[in-house]
Amino acid sequence: MSMIILGGSKSQGLASRLAAETGASLGELERRRFPDTEAYVRLKSDVAGERVVIVATTHPDQALVELLLLGDAVRRQRPESITTIVPYYAYGRQDRVFLAGETVSAEVVARLIQGFTDEFVTVDPHKEHILSFFKCKAGSVTAVPTIAEHVKAKHVDLVLAPDKGALERAQSCAAIMGVDADHLDKVRLDAHTVELRPKNLSVRDKNVLILDDIISTGGTVMKAAAELKKQGAQKVMAACTHGLFAAEALAHIRTVCDDVIATDTVESSVSVVSVAKSIAKAL
Ligand code: R5P
Repeated sequence: MSMIILGGSKSQGLASRLAAETGASLGELERRRFPDTEAYVRLKSDVAGERVVIVATTHPDQALVELLLLGDAVRRQRPESITTIVPYYAYGRQDRVFLAGETVSAEVVARLIQGFTDEFVTVDPHKEHILSFFKCKAGSVTAVPTIAEHVKAKHVDLVLAPDKGALERAQSCAAIMGVDADHLDKVRLDAHTVELRPKNLSVRDKNVLILDDIISTGGTVMKAAAELKKQGAQKVMAACTHGLFAAEALAHIRTVCDDVIATDTVESSVSVVSVAKSIAKAL
């Protein structure tokens, strides 16, 4: 039995790096879209009796549908086992009912994925408890140590979490880098608007790294960066595990941040850190 890695269309680079890291072979797929945009997936490799690892970020929605089709195609060939790696678990932020009448999107997606997989692994989920939505074996790995190693050379004096909930992540990054960590207080007004409470951070002439799990519209890091610059910070960098960069977010962030760093859980022009090694260790 050998290990075969199958990459979703939004995780091709990471799937190749994971194959190189583990010595596994990359399986072949045929993928296309029907004229009405529906997805078509065909497994070209024979995976019967093999250990299959699917690597597929589920953002945007089409990538999630592709994963469900691929998972079914693999299951039909009766492999020894299927491990599904979802580097960025989309819909993870709706992890409970916040307002009456809402759904728990993170649980809905978990139900779909566990329909074909034996094991599930993700990277830096927004909240760790989403793993309990899976009835199969489920775990997570973190990109924080790899991000910390990458930014060590950038002479960071302080790692800043945009809100208290993200402080633990900032502290573990800061500990690896041997610097301090602090946090701001964030209030989300709606999906596009956040308010950061002013707080004295003593950042004058310092290089500050803002670390978040996700950057989507960029509203959070831009507000934090503006506050830091107002308080006299010399250089402000933004780092995250999952760089979604909705619409023109990246261009906007670059107007207030001196550097933007993300991992390859969502592949973009600033995916300068790979989570392949961390995932390989978990396999
Ligand atoms: C939310 O709690 C997350 O940790 C991020 O802070 C949030 O998703 C960032 O979103 P945006 O870039 O749209 O402000």
